[in-house]
Amino acid sequence: MSMLSGKKVLLAISAGIAAYKTASLVRLFIKSGAEVKVIMTPASKDFITPLTLSTLSKNPVSSTFYDKEDENELWNNHVDLGLWADIMLVAPATANTLSKMANGTCDNLVLATYLSAKCPVYFAPAMDLDMYQHPSTKISLDTLQSFGNLLIPATSGELASGLVGEGRMAEPEDIVTFIEKDIHSKLRLRGKKILITAGPTYEAIDPVRFIGNHSSGKMGFEIAKSAANLGAEVVLISGPSSQQIQHSFIQRVNVTSAQEMFEAVHKEYQDVDIAILSAAVADYKPKNVASQKIKKKDTTLEIALEPTQDVLASLGKLKKQQFLVGFALETNNEIENAKGKLQRKNLDMIVLNSLQDKGAGFATNTNKVTIIDADLSETPFDLKSKSEVAKDIINHIIQKINA
Ligand code: CTP
Repeated sequence: MSMLSGKKVLLAISAGIAAYKTASLVRLFIKSGAEVKVIMTPASKDFITPLTLSTLSKNPVSSTFYDKEDENELWNNHVDLGLWADIMLVAPATANTLSKMANGTCDNLVLATYLSAKCPVYFAPAMDLDMYQHPSTKISLDTLQSFGNLLIPATSGELASGLVGEGRMAEPEDIVTFIEKDIHSKLRLRGKKILITAGPTYEAIDPVRFIGNHSSGKMGFEIAKSAANLGAEVVLISGPSSQQIQHSFIQRVNVTSAQEMFEAVHKEYQDVDIAILSAAVADYKPKNVASQKIKKKDTTLEIALEPTQDVLASLGKLKKQQFLVGFALETNNEIENAKGKLQRKNLDMIVLNSLQDKGAGFATNTNKVTIIDADLSETPFDLKSKSEVAKDIINHIIQKINA
């Protein structure tokens, strides 16, 4: 999944011949899962039509504050546009537009929106080589970077004038890669490896039957997504679950039984920074697994059970650099039981679900948790969607590891 997936990209086009490449740029943003709106300086419409860009972006394209010809036309609100964007990209950025941006000039919609934008602003200059080398252009580039705007450098090559030199707008693919890399470099879990367990385990009775539980795996999958979206490299070890996940930072490992989960987790544990064990692992398994299907009889059937290995407790014993997080699903004496587990299993944090809370637990899309830290302090959260709960859990962990 691209770093741009779900992001709102505002593409501002100024009047350079490289504007013809913005059609590809819009396509690439859309392909990477971004939502795109385009604004243009009036003169840039000589190089590419708004119709091309609105068709590709699937959004209206604006170049003026309002359309004088159309009585019903609404004012194009530059403040709303500036606030809507997660990312603003000025491409091509001409010498004229760069100079105006650097000086706070505000005589068209692109410039007014630039001044209103609170998001990161990238700019990709495009001009002839002498213009690019001119001291006034250099001052614009330096000034804009001193504002925190991000320069996507022009490249060298043949220019529209026929001259050869520096001033070509970076290629659309390279612009997209530049922005993706920049987003990634700022993510709060970049460089961290996280192990997450999710779902139930199935303990075989015979070749067709098992002992299991109602865990859907949703909570663990949401935690994995939330961590990966912040740049973490995630290994998600899941018991049987119908949840789907597609993310380039998540490696999914499927297991069935508690023993398989134990082995898969221990394979990864040594070099992870954070381990979050949200799986509902079976505490018991049949002592003997019948090799043939057990036939029905009139008498009662007794299945002897023996304990499984406690994965979390084992990780607690081996713990070195890892920040270890467990879950506790409780029906009574919740806080006390969760604190007991935290201490017994040598955890840094435990996430408590109480089945007394409506909307919490296995089968729902919501959850209500209390986080308990190693110092036994309690942080209760409201009932929220599992994806929001996942973000709360990840944010809490980030606070703790950076404290
Ligand atoms: N857990 C585990 N391995 C097991 C059992 C549990 O890793 N064999 C982990 C779970 O993933 C969870 C935590 O231990 O993070 C707590 O699970 P829970 O079932 O609530 O606690 P138990 O220690 O099994 O205690 P009890 O069932 O008696 O409440």
